[in-house]
Amino acid sequence: MRLDKYLVHCGVGSRKEVQSIIKKGRIEVNDNQLKKPNVHVSNDDVITLDGERIDYIDYVYLMLNKPAGVVTAVEDAMHETVMKFVPERYRHRSIVPVGRLDKDTTGLLLLTDDGQFNHLLMSPKHHVKKVYEVTLVESVSDMDIEQIESGIVLKDGTHCQPAAIKIMDEDTKVVHIELTEGKYHQVKRMFAAVGNRVVQLKRIQLGSYILEEKLTEGSIIEISKEDIQ
Ligand code: URA
Repeated sequence: MRLDKYLVHCGVGSRKEVQSIIKKGRIEVNDNQLKKPNVHVSNDDVITLDGERIDYIDYVYLMLNKPAGVVTAVEDAMHETVMKFVPERYRHRSIVPVGRLDKDTTGLLLLTDDGQFNHLLMSPKHHVKKVYEVTLVESVSDMDIEQIESGIVLKDGTHCQPAAIKIMDEDTKVVHIELTEGKYHQVKRMFAAVGNRVVQLKRIQLGSYILEEKLTEGSIIEISKEDIQ
């Protein structure tokens, strides 16, 4: 790979920025100062910027606390998308959201350019756990819980897998629901099927990833390779 492309891939800067950095002699490859952006380098070369090693990044994994009002898409003609939270240095990579949250849903959304990881979490075959905090208009009754926990049938006849419910407040209007599937508007439709209505929906867990408490809405962090394994 060309040196300038390698540096852009690793998030050092845009093509123009890295070319200027290279020309200033700030890059060394195996202890040799290189001023040509088109030199070919590989993952085995030791590349430094101002003496600091730049390791090759295969894939980027990001955790966003999605705010309401943005759509989960790479592009949208009408609305702002979650891509606006991706750090500038990674904008040139093919990062996409892992699954989808509705425009008014908040909480945990992963983004990555690792297609295999994305597929692993999203494929219906893998039944990855998703936990949502749900705020409802009406209190949930024991009968509602029983129906949802034993596999509710939606208004259009769609059958849902059993989903565990945990009551979080005295009024029984705030609950945690654990799903192992991801049908369109599923949580909203499940509660609509028992005559209730979701007023706030926040995803707090996806697989083994738990929304970090310190992550405020609109904040995004990079998840390390160790977290992924
Ligand atoms: N279920 C919904 O209804 N909406 C979401 O955004 C996610 C799950």
